[in-house]
Amino acid sequence: MNTAILLGAVRQGRQSHRAAYYLEKRLKQQRVNIDLIDLAKHPLPVFGSPESDGSSTRKTVADIGMRLEQADAFILVTPEYHGSFSGALKNTLDYYWSEFRKKPVGVVAASSGRMAGINAATQLQHVILSLGAFPLPSKFLISNINHAFNDLYEPQLEQIDTRAGKFLNEFLWFAGALYQKKRGEKVA
Ligand SMILES: Cc1cc2nc3c(=O)[nH]c(=O)nc-3n(C[C@H](O)[C@H](O)[C@H](O)COP(=O)(O)O)c2cc1C
Repeated sequence: MNTAILLGAVRQGRQSHRAAYYLEKRLKQQRVNIDLIDLAKHPLPVFGSPESDGSSTRKTVADIGMRLEQADAFILVTPEYHGSFSGALKNTLDYYWSEFRKKPVGVVAASSGRMAGINAATQLQHVILSLGAFPLPSKFLISNINHAFNDLYEPQLEQIDTRAGKFLNEFLWFAGALYQKKRGEKVA
């Protein structure tokens, strides 16, 4: 089973990328096939704008599309901006549709405040439904993201590790069940 993490924080000085790189590390330790798609490395112009029809955009869209297609399950990581998820993430999602169809998607949101990106996460779950994908009911929310990880992406509070573990267990159970079903295997 292949999992892709889609990281929607693209600004210079971003903090929530730490959550994505931390989860990548944890999943690798669990021997999960993981592909981290960091949208800061693959900028896309506004969907539908004249620039979006250029050859370099088409190549980026095709490259990301191939990686999304190969994934059986997704984790979307977003910062909270103005009470919602990042515009860069929404813009990228708008380029795709079938790549997400009937696939499980876990949501991770972060904010510098105490609310931990709850609005971003809940709104993103609605968008996941519109993509024809299955949002995982559990979310992983991180408050005070600026202090949550060090530069090696190690959590600075034990409860982050514990909550991440619970979220990943749920995610892998859900994703694994769907994967088995699609392969015609008996689901426990
Ligand atoms: C444009 C913008 C809007 C923001 N709006 C919110 C918000 O509505 N609620 C919140 O808790 N934090 C808000 N923040 C703070 C972010 O949560 C904070 O920057 C955090 O580090 C996550 O974003 P980052 O990955 O870009 O650093 C906002 C930050 C920016 C840049």
